[in-house]
Amino acid sequence: MAIQRTFSIIKPDATARNLTGKIIAKFEDAGLRVVASKRIRMTREQAEGFYAVHKERPFFGELVDFMISGPVVVQVLEGEDAVAKNREVMGATNPAEAAPGTIRKEFALSIGENSVHGSDAPETAAEEIKFFFSDDEIVG
Ligand code: CMP
Repeated sequence: MAIQRTFSIIKPDATARNLTGKIIAKFEDAGLRVVASKRIRMTREQAEGFYAVHKERPFFGELVDFMISGPVVVQVLEGEDAVAKNREVMGATNPAEAAPGTIRKEFALSIGENSVHGSDAPETAAEEIKFFFSDDEIVG
């Protein structure tokens, strides 16, 4: 498997509890490298655009409100098989189903306030990276 890039968000529930460093350590311990990073306050328009694929879901409003409720850290992670590796480190979306040692098992509060987002496929990763970063902000 070649070197890949994936997109990650450290969500407001995690920044509020000062868990940014602990979460990044999990990525780095798994062999993922942070090649771009910024702490931002998402606008409602950004959150609605980013999660547009979920706009018909009953939890869409709650999801958008949560994602703009505090700062987030958006990142590009690089490494061997980065998309799958990041998903492994994050654990299942619902923390009740997440494996021991994963970010969501250790830190997530609920299925909504689940501490991190990660791209689900290489194609999605490319789109999500472009949504938040220009090429010159990514330094590999
Ligand atoms: P994420 O990986 O950011 O992608 C979509 C998000 O929707 C997901 O993580 C969850 O935080 C959120 N989500 C999924 N299902 C639910 C749900 N049933 N209730 C609230 N939020 C949800």
